[in-house]
Amino acid sequence: EKAGFDHFMLKEIHEQPKAYRDTMLGRISDDGRSVELPELKMTPEQLKAINRVHIVACGTALHAGLVGKNVIESLVRVPVETDVASEYRYRSPIITPDTLVIVVSQSGETADTLAALREAQRCGARVLAITNVVGSSVAREADDVIITLAGPEIAVASTKAYSSQLIAFFLFGLYWAQTVGSQDEAAIAQVLAAMQALPEQVEKILGQSETIKEVAESISHHSSLFFIGRGVDYAVAMEGSLKLKEISYIHSEAYAAGELKHGTLALIEEGTPVIGLLTQEDLYEKMLSNIKETKARGAHVLGIVNEGHEQEVAKSVDRFFAIPRTLPLLTPALSVIPLQLLSYYASLALGHDVDKPRNLAKSVTVE
Ligand code: F6R
Repeated sequence: EKAGFDHFMLKEIHEQPKAYRDTMLGRISDDGRSVELPELKMTPEQLKAINRVHIVACGTALHAGLVGKNVIESLVRVPVETDVASEYRYRSPIITPDTLVIVVSQSGETADTLAALREAQRCGARVLAITNVVGSSVAREADDVIITLAGPEIAVASTKAYSSQLIAFFLFGLYWAQTVGSQDEAAIAQVLAAMQALPEQVEKILGQSETIKEVAESISHHSSLFFIGRGVDYAVAMEGSLKLKEISYIHSEAYAAGELKHGTLALIEEGTPVIGLLTQEDLYEKMLSNIKETKARGAHVLGIVNEGHEQEVAKSVDRFFAIPRTLPLLTPALSVIPLQLLSYYASLALGHDVDKPRNLAKSVTVE
């Protein structure tokens, strides 16, 4: 049932090209110029009236939501807030009839997420669910549902469900943009073409797992490390950090790279591993100087860069991993893959139960 893989997690990491294709299947017009989401019950008029979005979820699904915020704000220019589901209800969120609440849940059964959904509906908001399970509680109760087609996810650590949620956000963001006309047809076609290239690009990354395995083995001896990034790379850094903690039990923190010098640099000492994400070209130089700040304090840095930067970045980091080029908006769908592999191989090197980490359950149905 693991199809020749040692663990479900590794199998699921390798299923991502298929999960991306399946999640896009039938949702992109034959001419590649528009998104089709016939499953949405909301009318174009209802979508046009939305002027605020709350994305609510837990854990990894929330991290997908942080990328979703970036996607919607840049494509549609509607303000988006993200919230931890267990906090949402208790802070009297400002929900108006023109608020769209997007709940993200792989299982569709997470108690806090379900409670947030009900609260949002009680306050008169329309709820869109992004979930992997047809017929789940979240799917049944939401007003609209976009199903991710990642297939069943068995490993407790979420991989293909997260990345398929990113695909769902790209599709919904584009659909919204085309509905309100915030992006022209050529721009939408360009993003769709880049999305359709993602599965092969993921395959290419998976073919280079060996490099990540070596880094993972070296970090497995450390008790604490940092993931840093700017913009959408910061959101991916949070996911990389959670994944590592969850299955390797190594403490790590994700930091917005510009915040390091406001306290966190004090924790960097000789040999502290730092994983720096540099996929956003407009922030590249800024990221490099943040990386240099850590190097100057002894950090041992792995840089995740876009192809083409290898030679240049090699001067500033100890090791690097290059990901294929895509549009800045879409990089999380690629940059998360080496981070998933990093946590997998670190957990493996430490001899932990990769698929069933201690203290955690796949579906959290208590608040
Ligand atoms: C981490 C992980 C958890 C879940 C969270 C939400 O790898 O799997 O953080 O993402 O418990 O679960 P769902 O998406 O089922 O609501």
